[in-house]
Amino acid sequence: MSFNVVILGSGRGSNAQALLEAERSGNLGDARIVALFSDQAEARILSLGEKYGKPARYLDPGRKGARFSREGEALYVKEIKVYEPRLIVLAGFMRIVAEPFIKAFGGRVINLHPSLLPAFPGLDSLGQAIAAGVRIAGCTVHWVTAELDAGPIIDQQAFRIDPGASRPELEGKLRAAEHNLLPEVVCRLSKGESSPPF
Ligand code: GAR
Repeated sequence: MSFNVVILGSGRGSNAQALLEAERSGNLGDARIVALFSDQAEARILSLGEKYGKPARYLDPGRKGARFSREGEALYVKEIKVYEPRLIVLAGFMRIVAEPFIKAFGGRVINLHPSLLPAFPGLDSLGQAIAAGVRIAGCTVHWVTAELDAGPIIDQQAFRIDPGASRPELEGKLRAAEHNLLPEVVCRLSKGESSPPF
């Protein structure tokens, strides 16, 4: 059985693109990206579908804000299940997935978060790190659980915040760290390393 991966994202999709590039160049292990979905109809992530020859679609989450409506969640579960995923990757997906969704996929849902968790959960984590004056920042890939940004950590990558570094400079460092970490983790999971916490 191939290691089917479905990606969910809400925006730019640079991390989805890093995964697609890794697959294209043979660096994603046994993982096969089978579909991309977005809760934002105009999101750039959806344009990657055509570029990489993958199904990519907007799915109505059923309501504005951070959560799904019950019907919206059921729609996501149904449409994702069609692709028989072994892993669902939240790559810049700005919506909270709740327990019924996680359970529907046996816990096989991971999230990329732009901080060294457990530091700076929630929104604008890089801004939080800058405001706190930390000198080491980074990103985390973790299993998704019902508690926001708090599931078991799979791996992390760090970078330095030098005094006087600009926000765009740090965003560049964050993006580089994420684009390296996420494909590496998906590759390792496709080979059986680490299992969901349930
Ligand atoms: C990434 O920095 C990711 O860590 C963050 O959104 C960005 C998406 O970028 N995710 C979260 O903040 C989740 N709470 P992308 O659309 O270019 O991949």
